[in-house]
Amino acid sequence: MDNSNGTAFLELKNVNKTFNLSYGEVTALEHVSLTINKRELVALVGPSGSGKTTLLNIIGSLDRPSKGEVILEGTRIDTLSEEELVHFRREKFSFIFQDAKPLRMLNVLENTLLPFNFFKPKNRNGNIRNEGIEIIKSLGLGHRLYHMPSQLSGGEIQRVAIARALITHPAMILADEPTANLDRDNRLFVIETFRKLSKEKDIAIVLSTHDLEIANRADRIVHLKDGVFLKDEAIACPPCKV
Ligand SMILES: Nc1ncnc2c1ncn2[C@@H]1O[C@H](COP(=O)(O)OP(=O)(O)O)[C@@H](O)[C@H]1O
Ligand SMILES: [Mg+2]
Repeated sequence: MDNSNGTAFLELKNVNKTFNLSYGEVTALEHVSLTINKRELVALVGPSGSGKTTLLNIIGSLDRPSKGEVILEGTRIDTLSEEELVHFRREKFSFIFQDAKPLRMLNVLENTLLPFNFFKPKNRNGNIRNEGIEIIKSLGLGHRLYHMPSQLSGGEIQRVAIARALITHPAMILADEPTANLDRDNRLFVIETFRKLSKEKDIAIVLSTHDLEIANRADRIVHLKDGVFLKDEAIACPPCKV
C-alpha cells in the first residue's frame, strides 16, 4: 500500500546492523526490508535480543545501518550528516522509550512541552501551551495537569510520554515496549490510543512488544527472530473500536 503521492512514508531496504565489540561482531539485524505507510500501526514482535530496539533506532535515525538503505518520503536518510539528520529527526519522529521517565521536577504540562526547550517548531501557529493542555485532556489526564510525576501512577506516566510525543506533531511515533510495565487496562488504553492517533492524525506508529494481545490490535505484525525478518502479517482486529 502506498501513500496518496505514490511514495511509501518510510522504507528499509536490505538493512543489516552489526556491532563491533572487542571480542568480535554481534549481528543485530540481517536483511531487513520493510515499508511503513502513514496511518499504519505496526507491531514489532520477537523475543528479547531479536533486534526490536535496534530496528526502531534505525527507523527513527537514532542509529545507522551497517548496510542497506533507509528512505524517508523518497529521501535516503542513512547517508546524511548528523547535522542534516537532526532536522528530520525533530520534524518527523517522536520516541517513546521503554524507560520513558518524565523529569521529576517538572509537572505534567511542563513535561509535555519539554521538546520545545530544545527546538522551535517551524510553521506552528497557535498557543502551544493551550495545545499541550488539550492533548493532556484528550489522554484523560486533564485532572493531572499540574501534578508532579511522583504523584502519578505508571499508566498516567506513560500517558505523559504519549502527550510529549504528540506535541511536536510527528509524522511517525516509535515506541519501544511502551506497554511493558502496565496492567492490562492501561496496556489496552495505550494500544487503542495509538490506533486512534494513527487513523485520526495520519501518524505512522511502530511499537515493539512481547505481548500478542497488544500486537493483535495493530494493523500489521512484523515478526523478528535473531535479527532476521520472519514474516509480515496483516491483522484484522475484531475488538478494535477504530
Ligand atoms: N549498542 C550495542 N552494542 C553491542 N551489541 C548490541 C547493541 N545494541 C544491541 N546489541 C545486540 O544486538 C542484538 C539485538 O538487541 P536489541 O535490538 O536490543 O533486541 P531486543 O530489543 O529485541 O531485545 C542483541 O544480541 C544485543 O545484545
Ligand atoms: Mg529492546
